[in-house]
Amino acid sequence: MARVLVTRRLPDGGLAPLTGHEIVGPHDDDRPLTAAELRNRAAECDAIVCLLTDRIDADVLAAGADGGRLRVVANVAVGYDNIDVTAARSHGIAVCNTPGVLDETTADLAFALILAAARLGSDAEADLRAGRWSGWRITDYLGQDVYGATLGIVGYGRIGRAVARRASGFSMRVLHHTRTDTGEAGWTADLDELLAASDIVSLHVPGGEATHHLLDARRIGLLRPTAVLVNTARGPVVDEAALADALHTGRLFAAGLDVYEREPEIHPRLLTAPRAVLWPHLGSASHATRLRMATTATGAVAEILRGGTPANLVT
Ligand code: DGY
Repeated sequence: MARVLVTRRLPDGGLAPLTGHEIVGPHDDDRPLTAAELRNRAAECDAIVCLLTDRIDADVLAAGADGGRLRVVANVAVGYDNIDVTAARSHGIAVCNTPGVLDETTADLAFALILAAARLGSDAEADLRAGRWSGWRITDYLGQDVYGATLGIVGYGRIGRAVARRASGFSMRVLHHTRTDTGEAGWTADLDELLAASDIVSLHVPGGEATHHLLDARRIGLLRPTAVLVNTARGPVVDEAALADALHTGRLFAAGLDVYEREPEIHPRLLTAPRAVLWPHLGSASHATRLRMATTATGAVAEILRGGTPANLVT
């Protein structure tokens, strides 16, 4: 029987693959573990099941390696920018994630943000709830059409492609940018070119150093004044201060965000920005998908503890 640290509460049934192992945590109040708690528990466990809000940095992994037990860290998320994969590799600790089980759910959410932002859903609803809507006017809440627009997808992995499939139902022209040529129609080598040519831009790149502020002030400035920017990837991919400025000055039409640079903090100028739809990182939040994510991560841990090699191994 192995000892498995589960840092946070999982959906009911999420721990089923770990039946027979000793589970440590999570706290009854589901609070995040501190850095010191993570280090201490890493030293005493064979495996860690964590969420994207847990920072599994070099110190935590070193503590796990020093404890002589830690074999695997499984993130209940497809993104793993919260884990120092290089440090894990150097200690021979496996890292797993949850690819493939949340693509459609996250693409649904991205498309919902595209529609909500383009049609000014948040501003209009806020007016209605605050009693500011005095009745239908032909000039009120004029958004941008999604049907027939050009959609620029930045990052063309599983989720980006799932968004592209939805776009075809809206007769959109779809461009996509990746560093290497996909060989598919719509591939645009130059990101700047894609940004300037798109009515709507949706981000689907992984987080981490390589994509930090990929959309900085200069690139945000390349977007059309009528454009809509949607981010369901990772917050640090966009320079939030620059985005807030573009919305406040009217340089950019609208934005739909599900992720933020310093979650759960939201840049104060984004909170007051007009034409911004701001959702709390709920891309994968459906009952079925969150359960699949949990069992994918715990299933990978169980497999590694049995001596196997799961398909969702990052390193
Ligand atoms: C992920 O899995 O990386 C998502 O951000 C969770 O919604």
